[in-house]
Amino acid sequence: MKILVTGGLGFIGSHVVVELQNEGFEVVIIDNLSNSSEDVLKGITAITGKQPLFEKLDLRDKPLVVDFFKKHHDILGVIHFAASKAVGESVDLPLLYYENNLNTLIYILQELQKKEASNIIFSSSCTVYGQADVLPITESAPIKPAESPYGNTKQIGEEIIKDTCKVSSNINAIALRYFNPIGAHESVKIGELPIGTPQNLIPFITQTGMGLREQLSVFGDDYPTEDGTCIRDYIHVVDLAKAHVAALKRLINGDNSGNYEVFNIGTGKGSSVIEVINAFEEVSGQKLNYKIVDKRAGDVIAAFADTTKANNVLGWKSELSLKDALLSAWKWEQEIRK
Ligand code: WQD
Repeated sequence: MKILVTGGLGFIGSHVVVELQNEGFEVVIIDNLSNSSEDVLKGITAITGKQPLFEKLDLRDKPLVVDFFKKHHDILGVIHFAASKAVGESVDLPLLYYENNLNTLIYILQELQKKEASNIIFSSSCTVYGQADVLPITESAPIKPAESPYGNTKQIGEEIIKDTCKVSSNINAIALRYFNPIGAHESVKIGELPIGTPQNLIPFITQTGMGLREQLSVFGDDYPTEDGTCIRDYIHVVDLAKAHVAALKRLINGDNSGNYEVFNIGTGKGSSVIEVINAFEEVSGQKLNYKIVDKRAGDVIAAFADTTKANNVLGWKSELSLKDALLSAWKWEQEIRK
């Protein structure tokens, strides 16, 4: 069973490719290498012993997408990661984000409409909820106006798929709303490879731990939380990857209850920035140099998942802890700096 993974050389995509191969799927990766490298292919192959098919292709080039689906007419499902994902950058370059994140989705859906039957898993984000009024966050929580063009492309992407599925019963879709993916594969052969200064907390912590960064800036400690810092649901990327396999199998096996479903994928546990720092110091055995600075615009106070639907309907549950994820991130950082 051949599965297309777009953005399959990226952080989450590469971990999903490993889990798909572990489950016996044949994988073809499309990646334009704008935010990844072909070395990741070696890492995947070193873990699974099977080199996935790879085509360097920019999904914004519609004729290339059409040709690709003609060539790979036996694709059973698509897991669509390929997108730009830097929140701050999206504010500065909105048209790049709308073109790259939405045109590519539209071209893929147009190809799936031509097939007798197809399955797509869409990489969405808890960012669609903004600051939820009720915690933990369920899938029925209201969608809030996006705080960034990036977040808006996730909301619009879900709408595009939902509207397409209404008229195309031959397409079965699941949107997975990720909370905060962190960590790396235990083999230390694949992991997060942020380019430039990391925007996200965990890579900034591990780079500070390695001495690549002088000091971590904690964006505010006077939020209405126990220790004043923001709360997030940090999920190990391997647990997140396994949720994609569960979602794909749900569609392939016809267990879905409609041809468009949504699941929150998190651990169900919230951790504050200070709690993350303390956990990192424990697993790494070293103090982390940090200081409290002003709040970051756009940050929500707290977000963590209600995982009832994912656990009971999707049949998936996270298994790894925050410390497991931080230790794996730390080992990965040490590995790539050797
Ligand atoms: C986590 C917490 C920061 C960096 C983002 C995107 C979201 C998704 C995941 C793609 C916050 C604090 C961070 C730092 C800090 N990406 N922080 N110092 O913002 O929850 O989510 O990444 O889908 O769409 O919005 O993750 O890791 O940036 O921040 O204090 O140097 O860490 O204030 O409270 P975030 P993050």
